[in-house]
Amino acid sequence: MTDKKLIGKYKTYIKEKLSKKRYTHSVNVANAAVELARRYGGDEDKAYIAGLLHDCAKEMPVEEQLALVKHSQLDVHEIEIKAVPLYHAIAGAEIVRAALEIKDPEIILAIRYHTVGCANMSKLSQIVYLADLISEDRDYKDVKKMRKTAAQSLERAMFEAFRFSIKDSAEKGNLIPPSTFSAYNEFAALMKAPE
Ligand SMILES: [Fe+2]
Ligand SMILES: [Fe+2]
Repeated sequence: MTDKKLIGKYKTYIKEKLSKKRYTHSVNVANAAVELARRYGGDEDKAYIAGLLHDCAKEMPVEEQLALVKHSQLDVHEIEIKAVPLYHAIAGAEIVRAALEIKDPEIILAIRYHTVGCANMSKLSQIVYLADLISEDRDYKDVKKMRKTAAQSLERAMFEAFRFSIKDSAEKGNLIPPSTFSAYNEFAALMKAPE
């Protein structure tokens, strides 16, 4: 396990910044991410840290989140600047870098893309994306099915996750960033590839 002191520091940070409910969600996502990393040969320490911190900016005032999004050096699509629920992923990536001094680009990108996904997601990014959907506190219609799929195949679970996300966003009439389609297409292509 990574330096316990560091984990303690990260936990103290999010405990201060998040409601009790979201703090619990964060710890649950960290645990789910470690489980996925163990199953699929990912880095368990990075999975725990990225899972723990993925929502660290979620309860910041929206204007502060937007300021971080606008000044971010990361790739940000204009659609993401129009969707408040997407700010926290970009803002969170900036915060872990600036306030928590995390330099690992894989962790930063896993946090940055945990909402919208992107092309060529690293294993860590896939793990965090999925852990956020199957964590213990999650309670939506198909959560059991998603947990089962996640235990069987990382790629199939990612495919199902993006299929659901795009369908759900389209039904609500929401804008969908191109990176989400890229992710969907990559996993869909894998599902169609001949054995
Ligand atoms: Fe989030
Ligand atoms: Fe989350």
